[in-house]
Amino acid sequence: MNPTIRVIPTADGSHTVLNETLGKPYHSVYGAIQESQRVYIELGLLAALAKFPTDELRIFEMGFGTGLNALLTAHEAQLHQHQVHYVAIEAYPLPLADAHQLNYDALLGTNWLRSMHESTWGKIVTINPFFRLTKLAGFFEELQTADRYHLIYYDAFAPSAQPELWEPDVFRQLSNLLLPGGMLTTYCAKSYVQRNMRNVGLTVEKHPGPLHKRDILRAVKT
Ligand SMILES: C[S@@+](CC[C@H](N)C(=O)[O-])C[C@H]1O[C@@H](n2cnc3c(N)ncnc32)[C@H](O)[C@@H]1O
Repeated sequence: MNPTIRVIPTADGSHTVLNETLGKPYHSVYGAIQESQRVYIELGLLAALAKFPTDELRIFEMGFGTGLNALLTAHEAQLHQHQVHYVAIEAYPLPLADAHQLNYDALLGTNWLRSMHESTWGKIVTINPFFRLTKLAGFFEELQTADRYHLIYYDAFAPSAQPELWEPDVFRQLSNLLLPGGMLTTYCAKSYVQRNMRNVGLTVEKHPGPLHKRDILRAVKT
């Protein structure tokens, strides 16, 4: 059943979506953009650009949601003039009427969010000269693919709402998706999540988080 959702403001002025069925927002209420910028762009994308300077960067996102992480990444890809192919999976796509309320383009000075949301599922779509997007409709747990990635943005709902998405089998699946040297970043730093990552052979690094969040994680496939 599709969740009941509502677009709400966060403390940095950027919107998020509240999943009223789970009682969880898609981002930190202290600021959606500031959180995504820290967890996925600074800790993930900028590190991957430095580590794989000559490759087209292949990024996988678990939970396309509002498209904020994709939009921030498209912006950085253009700033760095670095080719990115971004593949995002989503089990419960936002209705377009809700997606069109989101204020991210206005805040970032971009105009790509509408085309991201309106792009056909399962097709490669060019969003800007440096950023191609493929949205996959479905459940991550059921994904079958031989594709491999330099970087994963792991943005499932928190373990309190979706414990099944933080279990060892999921991290085995995530680790299999990474290229050698590939990295995964996530906002959840719970110790059993770190342990589940280590148990599938990932090297786990703890880093300072965004506002009101002490630690966030980067896991590396060594
Ligand atoms: C915390 S929100 C983050 C959304 C997105 N990254 C953003 O910045 O807006 C989690 C997202 O994962 C999606 N999701 C939840 N369970 C999923 C599953 N099993 N497979 C794929 N997507 C899922 C939700 O619908 C939601 O869009």
